[in-house]
Amino acid sequence: MKIPIINSKRQYETIATKAESAVLEVMRSGSYILGANNKEFENEMCNYLDCKYSVALNSGTDALHLALRALDIGEGDEVISTAFTFVATSESIGIVGAKPVFVDIDPDTFNIDPAKIEAAITPKTKAIIPVHLYGQPCDMDPIMDIAKRHNLFVIEDACQAIGAEYKGKKVGTIGDVGCFSFYPTKNLGTMGDGGLLSTNSQYIKDRVIALRNHGGAIRYHHDEIGVNSRLDEIQAAILRVKLPYIDKWNQARREHAKLYNELFANCDLIETPKELDSTYCVYHQYTVKIPNRDEVHKMLAEAGIGAMIYYPIPLHLQKVHDKYNFKEGMLPITEENTKLVLSLPMFAEITEEEQREVARALIECTEKSMATTV
Ligand SMILES: Cc1ncc(COP(=O)(O)O)c(C=O)c1O
Repeated sequence: MKIPIINSKRQYETIATKAESAVLEVMRSGSYILGANNKEFENEMCNYLDCKYSVALNSGTDALHLALRALDIGEGDEVISTAFTFVATSESIGIVGAKPVFVDIDPDTFNIDPAKIEAAITPKTKAIIPVHLYGQPCDMDPIMDIAKRHNLFVIEDACQAIGAEYKGKKVGTIGDVGCFSFYPTKNLGTMGDGGLLSTNSQYIKDRVIALRNHGGAIRYHHDEIGVNSRLDEIQAAILRVKLPYIDKWNQARREHAKLYNELFANCDLIETPKELDSTYCVYHQYTVKIPNRDEVHKMLAEAGIGAMIYYPIPLHLQKVHDKYNFKEGMLPITEENTKLVLSLPMFAEITEEEQREVARALIECTEKSMATTV
């Protein structure tokens, strides 16, 4: 049985009629950019997240870098974040000319370790970007407390975590800004690129509305260098069809995570994901830690199981950051976990039979690989 890490077509079949008629409606309307669907989607996201403002954008990367621009963070500034994430997090810091300062992770959650943040603060530090990786909320209380005491902004990278909650609040609404991605494989994925910034600050909202449209809120009046980062109407219409299902899909992911946990319960070689108390994790990924990861990964691929390594190289060791001379060994927990993690097939529509086959194959491959290790 071939089992992909995600099956977008299967989800599409469940909303096809609605999505196709929404797209047709946009095509027939003649209004393709910043139209009614954008406005309505922004309103619906404010209601969903429970925040005052949201600005639809072309991607999660733009949400991150325009958040930094709106907060006037740039050349000479430092931004604290994690190296255990997708490159877009630190790339956004680089786009505005600031320097990423990486802090090690908590090995249980894979998220930034709040206890290590304060030691990384310098007079140049302007913001912290916690990343709710794999849909798992960061421990936000201590992060917000540090930010308050040191007068720093908090930009939540919630690109993988729409619908996740920390102490009853949706992630992306706890810090000054939340950033979301609607890349097709995300829990709420569109059929192209898309992103959104959430905030309770009117100032940030107004700045980002201008920045996304060539630096001017009024047509043909340009106050600063901006970008073209508008969400097109077709994507907004698709997202409006999908948004009402997100809680159901996230809940399904949680149930799938529970079943995986049960299936691996008797295998000591496989470490299953942990959840922090008072959080609602939305399992963008279901990520285990295993010995001989690379070999097991290869064996699973040969068996038709689409597991993935998110991410094989931590950001401080990526070529793009060579100029900072970050050294191997600098973030030992990040580096160690990079070698252990493997994300398994996870999507709302995965069947119990498929999960059982994934679990069977993973246990078999891991045990076999360990048996041949001398
Ligand atoms: C943690 C994280 N941050 C940022 C992004 C960037 O989002 P996008 O691909 O929409 O630009 C992604 C998406 O891949 C992500 O996973």
